[in-house]
Amino acid sequence: MVKIEAIVRKEKFDDVCKALERSGIGGMTVTTVQGFGHHRNGLQEKIKIEIYSDEFQVDTIVEIIRENAKTDATGDGKIAILDLENLYRIRTGEEGAAAI
Ligand SMILES: Nc1ncnc2c1ncn2[C@@H]1O[C@H](COP(=O)(O)OP(=O)(O)OP(=O)(O)O)[C@@H](O)[C@H]1O
Ligand SMILES: [Mg+2]
Repeated sequence: MVKIEAIVRKEKFDDVCKALERSGIGGMTVTTVQGFGHHRNGLQEKIKIEIYSDEFQVDTIVEIIRENAKTDATGDGKIAILDLENLYRIRTGEEGAAAI
């Protein structure tokens, strides 16, 4: 399992969100954040998306985010893939991929 963590432009978030909703992911968490990249033009407000996923869906999710978040201007953001040791569904106690 992995955690996909993406930082995207606020203006692109609606498109990214709708495409992800259609894709069959288990869920996602969204936070408004501030950050800077290489260009260092002060802190910019961005949207951070977090998705717990199995390995099989990662490439599809990354592609959906890239397709919908890209403007080709500097500051389009990042997508990080982090190993996820375990995941629990609080209500049922299921764990691992079954908890996604
Ligand atoms: N190294 C980093 N670590 C953590 N967050 C980052 C990093 N680089 C960028 N971010 C986050 O991504 C946002 C957008 O960054 P940005 O797209 O400008 O990255 P970049 O590498 O400078 O790429 P670009 O050349 O397209 O501008 C930043 O505001 C910040 O929130
Ligand atoms: Mg930048």
